[in-house]
Amino acid sequence: MAGRLIIPALLAALFLPSGGAAIETPNRALGERLFSSTALSTNGRSCAGCHANGKGLQEIAAYDDPMLREMINFCIRDALKGEMLPADSQELESLLLYLRTLDRSTPTNR
Ligand code: HEC
Repeated sequence: MAGRLIIPALLAALFLPSGGAAIETPNRALGERLFSSTALSTNGRSCAGCHANGKGLQEIAAYDDPMLREMINFCIRDALKGEMLPADSQELESLLLYLRTLDRSTPTNR
């Protein structure tokens, strides 16, 4: 009986937007694209519009991941007038990875 559910479930995981997001790996390239695009915004702004070259983000090494996720989401809500992203979403994790590369206090990023 249960076997008949496996194929539809696999197809759903591959093609439904939420299932698709869950199986895609967060990555810096996506984070960088989101950072400079208006995809997350309803007012035509982008992160890069205010934080060009990491402006205002020099101190983020002091924040752990949960804190940084919150700050990203506050800017999405308040500055971009967009929808806050779920904590485990590919978009939020990708932004997080990208922001970590802007942190000049980490020697490997210099
Ligand atoms: C309209 C301008 C504006 C936009 C657009 C914007 N931000 Fe911000 N952001 C700010 C301001 C202002 C602050 C708080 C003051 C500061 O630290 O510069 C801030 C703070 C932050 C912080 C915390 C920095 C710290 O050290 O406290 C992070 C992280 C951040 N923004 C990420 C983002 C991301 C990611 C986006 C895009 C999703 C974004 N911001 C879009 C203006 C903006």
